[in-house]
Amino acid sequence: MPEPKFKTIDSLAVSGQRVLVRVDLNVPMSDGKVTDASRIERVAPTLSELAAKGAKVVVLSHLGRPQGRKVPEMSLKPLVAPLEKAVGRKVAFAQDCIGPAAENAVRALKPGEVLLLENLRFHKEEEKNESSFVDKLSALGDIYVNDAFSAAHRAHASIEGLANRLPAAAGRLMQAELEALDKALGDPRRPLCAVVGGAKVSTKLDLLGNLVGMVDKLIIGGGMANTFLQAEGIDVGTSLSEKDLGGAARAILAKAVAAKCKVVLPVDIVVAPELKAGVASRVADVKACPADQMILDVGPRSVALYESELAECATLVWNGPLGAFEIKPFDAGTVALARKAAELTAEKKLLSVVGGGDTVAALEAAGVADKFSYVSTAGGAFLEWMEGRTLPGVAALIRAA
Ligand code: 3PG
Ligand code: MG
Repeated sequence: MPEPKFKTIDSLAVSGQRVLVRVDLNVPMSDGKVTDASRIERVAPTLSELAAKGAKVVVLSHLGRPQGRKVPEMSLKPLVAPLEKAVGRKVAFAQDCIGPAAENAVRALKPGEVLLLENLRFHKEEEKNESSFVDKLSALGDIYVNDAFSAAHRAHASIEGLANRLPAAAGRLMQAELEALDKALGDPRRPLCAVVGGAKVSTKLDLLGNLVGMVDKLIIGGGMANTFLQAEGIDVGTSLSEKDLGGAARAILAKAVAAKCKVVLPVDIVVAPELKAGVASRVADVKACPADQMILDVGPRSVALYESELAECATLVWNGPLGAFEIKPFDAGTVALARKAAELTAEKKLLSVVGGGDTVAALEAAGVADKFSYVSTAGGAFLEWMEGRTLPGVAALIRAA
């Protein structure tokens, strides 16, 4: 086990201290109700632990992108009740994250109590990481804990600024995310396999370029596979594809050859005239996509190929569905490979790490998300990490250690 590069809660004396905890409560909501409480549940252990140790726990988060304006629909107030439920304690609320409302609420806190401050992004200074705003936030606490891995790719005041200003440590969720990611891409057991899907190559060019230099096998599915197929001269009918990225796709394939990374593309496909529920679909060889049809999933021979490649691996990192999984039956490829990964994980043959909102939703729909070794709470931050980029929030914690 290498030396931990960042401090954790274990190294903090929090009793009686005001602890500012940056979490990511950017949860999906509909009609003022939380529709997926995973992120709330995943930060609750950190908040409970700090409170149990006698800290005055001050919770900071953003929600949505209000762009520096007070947008009532993006208030964190509706999250008080779900947070109370997850933490098992009463949670107070302050109408602002800085100024008198926040100061008074923090002053009223007793050891073991929890306070949630209003959406940080109601102030434009948060995203600009403005020093005067960092001053105002830091005045509310003695110690800073970052438990928001999923927002660590943002160099914002509450993420980077505060870590530079106060004694700083990673919360339990941040710690778990970083440890899981290190096992997957930092110091993995090999062979290491990446599964990358999703609609477009353009959003994942850097990611693919980085991965082929690190992984032993790269399994490509989803709409982005079409761009690779087309780059190899295969006709993809009316499929979604990015014709102008043929050169970029070929460069990635060439880099993979040089790095001895095996790239696995579909060998058969599921095609239909359009993406619509109930549409007639059929399986075709990858080289036989009809001119008037589109590729909407990988076929059964591809799934069998992916499964046998995966079975040879010790570690898996997965981002992006293999087909148009929101509409059945085009979820079949994703579901089948997810089940295989879950099975290999249960047999202790595979360490499996998955991240990205769509991907986790697809695995949840397949009923296997909880059977993976680790499910990240992060979307954008997970992608940037797979791109090999330094996340400002993580870098700040390492500097502070
Ligand atoms: C997320 O949900 O990906 C994080 O909370 C970051 O949100 P942002 O993309 O609005 O910065
Ligand atoms: Mg995002």
